[in-house]
Amino acid sequence: MLDLDLQGTALRSRMLGGVTATNENESMRLVGWIHRRRDLGGLIFWDLRDRSGLLQISLGPEWTESDSLSRAHGLGSETVVSVEGVVKLRPAGKRNPEMATGEVELQATKVEVLNEARTPEIPVYLGPEDKLPAEELRLRHRVLDLRRSELQDNLVLRHRLIMAARRELDGLGFIEVETPILTKPTPEGARDFLVPSRLHPGQFYALPQSPQIYKQILMAAGFDRYFQIARCFRDEDLRADRQPEFTQIDVEASFVAPEDVFGWMERVMASMADVSDSVEAPTPFLRMSHAEALERYGTDRPDLRCGLEIQDWTATLGGLEFGLLQSVVSDGGRIRGLLLHGGASLSRKQIEAIEAEAKEAGAPGLLWTKRSDGGGSGPLSRFMAEGDYDALGMAAGDLVLVAAGSDAVTSPALGVTRLAAASQLELEPTTACAWLWVTDFPMFDESDGVLTASHHPFVHVHPEDADLLDTDPARARAQSYDLVYNGVELGSGGIRNHDSNAQRKILRLLGLSDPEIELKFGFLLTALESGAPPHGGMALGMDRIVMLFSGSKSLRDVVAFPKTTAARALFEGAPVHVSEQELAELGLRIVGEGEQDG
Ligand code: AMO
Repeated sequence: MLDLDLQGTALRSRMLGGVTATNENESMRLVGWIHRRRDLGGLIFWDLRDRSGLLQISLGPEWTESDSLSRAHGLGSETVVSVEGVVKLRPAGKRNPEMATGEVELQATKVEVLNEARTPEIPVYLGPEDKLPAEELRLRHRVLDLRRSELQDNLVLRHRLIMAARRELDGLGFIEVETPILTKPTPEGARDFLVPSRLHPGQFYALPQSPQIYKQILMAAGFDRYFQIARCFRDEDLRADRQPEFTQIDVEASFVAPEDVFGWMERVMASMADVSDSVEAPTPFLRMSHAEALERYGTDRPDLRCGLEIQDWTATLGGLEFGLLQSVVSDGGRIRGLLLHGGASLSRKQIEAIEAEAKEAGAPGLLWTKRSDGGGSGPLSRFMAEGDYDALGMAAGDLVLVAAGSDAVTSPALGVTRLAAASQLELEPTTACAWLWVTDFPMFDESDGVLTASHHPFVHVHPEDADLLDTDPARARAQSYDLVYNGVELGSGGIRNHDSNAQRKILRLLGLSDPEIELKFGFLLTALESGAPPHGGMALGMDRIVMLFSGSKSLRDVVAFPKTTAARALFEGAPVHVSEQELAELGLRIVGEGEQDG
């Protein structure tokens, strides 16, 4: 890594962050932003800031040119200055152990103003008691917000993580190829951002939702191992972990099985963990099928920092004299739940808070019982005998939370119940960094008899389920996988259809007619028919990786110029209305009232 502290330029001797007592009595010319100022009349102190850190500058009449000093009084924070002076040890008692440069200061002899800043709309320096300004304000004044060390550190980490991934993939023989940003609209799950063509009025490009089809074409073209730090665009509803444009580490390789992809991507993650202070990625990562993840954790992205597992108690609880449970079982449903050791300490209010989350996830409610020395309590208790508590594995002080119904209802409900209960009970995580491959997702989601691709339409069917495509496609598994870290989907991928007939079959199952298939995917099919090798790969969400590795709560804190949840760029002010003339050139006319900026 470059030593920033030593880096001089024509305008400065070095950067600020690493000036220490070893530099005592050295004369220097230093530059930076006035971060914090204390004006004591005859004496002025500045904390001067650059990317590498802070250094105290002291300006006093005995060592500073008098015109420099008088000018310095009027300078506000965030002004850019150049200061010449001598490094001195601070007097004992004035040293600041919290600051890397806290033993020394630069006693200024001369100050030059390089650019006087207007009064900052939001502060860059925040004292221990100061609150961060509201996010909207910070986004509007992004240039100032980006000066805060937290955002600087996040973007530096982002750079290091990307470099680590690039180095690792390069070492593994992957070639970085750029694929187009102006592409053909091809449905991949989300809505496209469309770009009107001026030269071909009425026609549109689409911004890529991912380089998926291009990377497959590159496999057909014989590149064997491709990667790209790729910008992707999706016009979808935004959340804290979604941006309309985001970055993937996109990877594809020929003649591979899922294990090859797992091995490479584990190396990429481990190399990224090496440059982070907080994340460890011991390989190989755990693997689990999609079906098992739903059975044990109620979700396809289980947070394995929490050890709780869902139990199937259909046999035990279905036998109780409790009509509701009996009818669930006779309707083909199951009774599943969680055993919480020590959970009897939770109050009714806490249990209701957990239940509220289960309801939000679609459950009609949760049943529960506590076991105590003398018996039990809670809604289930009046149906339960001593032996039933034993059958559930409950000891005195334990609680069970139960959901009954179809798996489609109980799995998501128990998935959130698990995490809500762990949080209410303040369970210690079993590990800080839980990595997991979830494999063999279903090929399709089915609703009202209509199939949609559960990942995207290019994934190959699981080799054991090829026949199901003809008989019962909704049950067919795909040769696909997700990488999950601490309950967040970090990446997703699969083995593809390199045979154009296999690809056509899936597109037909998704309801596309042959002419539609040719129109939308003809170029991919042509590539496959030109002799495409078997291939597969995946894409990691770079922004999510940086968010988790930096401990940030939002993607907006790890992207230099993010959009709001309303997909607006507040600093530069986008999107905007354009002139009638520009619209006319594109052959476009706005129908109805465009939303006024606000
Ligand atoms: P997928 O759509 O699952 O797969 O995306 C891969 C990863 O990209 C990240 N991601 C996002 N990050 C921020 N904002 C978003 N709006 C957003 N959407 C997705 C997630 C996700 O796991 N072409 C396939 C990959 C493949 O099959 O190789 C694809 O794009 O971390």
